[in-house]
Amino acid sequence: MVNKSVKLYRGLQGVYFDRTRTTFIDGSNGILEYRGYNIHDLAEKSTFEEVSYLLLHGDLPNRQQLDTFNDSLKEARNLPAQIFSIIDEIKNSHPMDVLRTAVSALASFDEDRENDTVEGAIKKGIRLTSQVPTIVMAHHNIRNGNPPIEPNQNLNHAGNFLYMLNGKIPSQQTINLMDKDFILHADHGSNASAFTARVVASTNADLHGAITAGIAALSGPSHGGAAENVMQMAKEIESPEKAEGYVKTLLANRERVMGFGHRVYRSEDPRARHLKEGVKRLSAEVGQPHWYQILEAVQKAMSPYSRRGIHVNVDFFAGVIYYLSGIPQDLFVPIFAVGRIPGWVIQVIEQYEHNILIRPLLHYTGERERTYIPLKDRV
Ligand SMILES: CC(C)(COP(=O)(O)OP(=O)(O)OC[C@H]1O[C@@H](n2cnc3c(N)ncnc32)[C@H](O)[C@@H]1OP(=O)(O)O)[C@@H](O)C(=O)NCCC(=O)NCCS
Repeated sequence: MVNKSVKLYRGLQGVYFDRTRTTFIDGSNGILEYRGYNIHDLAEKSTFEEVSYLLLHGDLPNRQQLDTFNDSLKEARNLPAQIFSIIDEIKNSHPMDVLRTAVSALASFDEDRENDTVEGAIKKGIRLTSQVPTIVMAHHNIRNGNPPIEPNQNLNHAGNFLYMLNGKIPSQQTINLMDKDFILHADHGSNASAFTARVVASTNADLHGAITAGIAALSGPSHGGAAENVMQMAKEIESPEKAEGYVKTLLANRERVMGFGHRVYRSEDPRARHLKEGVKRLSAEVGQPHWYQILEAVQKAMSPYSRRGIHVNVDFFAGVIYYLSGIPQDLFVPIFAVGRIPGWVIQVIEQYEHNILIRPLLHYTGERERTYIPLKDRV
């Protein structure tokens, strides 16, 4: 029976459940800051390595701190042999399922597995930041019958990730764009995957367990899958002239246009503009400008909806960037995970530092006080 005096917050929409010193989001005004630094400054001037340091340690690194941090990241790029064997055993599964399983298995091999201090969690987090890209690309090669490609220590995080796809050194422009994409995805408050990771951490379970659960939450289409769906949509639209009709049909059928709308942003998603510029340049560089033109035409067709708070989001442009970088569609969600590791790690650490078991209530609306009937008497 529904008790009208119970105030329900379905989906925990609009509920603050704790405090954070990591990421500030103002959804009404389209503002995003990591540790107080505006996302526009970070996207334009910084690198993923710097941003990871910033998230994990609270301040931007100086030269020496960054060099040491980079060395730790590079040192951790390889995987224990057993992880390659596990990937091989399950190579026909979806890349997100493989990633989830491999990250969970990594817990058993981490040299700090017994170390449950904050320092231990940071060390594990740095290792995971480097191991996750290797897992994604090793799986991709193994499933295609090829040996995994050794990490290239001359390349930065984004460059090495792209290199491990096929052993080719990508153009500097493609590396810079992937680097920017990782920066823009590095953290985003209490989204479903970060919240999931915090729930696991709230029981004092280990970091690998919390990140494994975060990966599981990200794998669902309402969270991580939009970039893939936008690419699918762009392929179906085929040419800019068909975009308006396509969008109108979707909306007439009360279907959602992928890459638009956001639970928190009711104005511009501040991350989107940085990737828009990238799609424009990249699609011109590879001689396929129609991809940018299709997205632009969809954005134009959706412009009347901005009055209702439905704006373009970061995933709208990400999919085409991945596609033009030669990345297969089912690796789009894993790319999101590659960028998000530092964010998950620091949120789990915040949870440990000021922990409280996350245990909300459910309002019971089923039957009550039923009479138990023995099995032999049930019809
Ligand atoms: C992200 C998303 C799940 C947020 O959902 P939400 O906060 O629950 O938004 P709501 O479901 O309250 O939507 C409010 C209204 O806007 C509409 N709307 C929201 N996103 C829309 C979209 N992408 N296309 C068309 N209409 C949309 C809803 O249909 C709803 O209309 P109604 O009030 O007439 O029923 C949703 O916008 C969506 O599905 N977007 C497409 C997928 C996507 O790009 N996800 C990536 C997010 S980074």
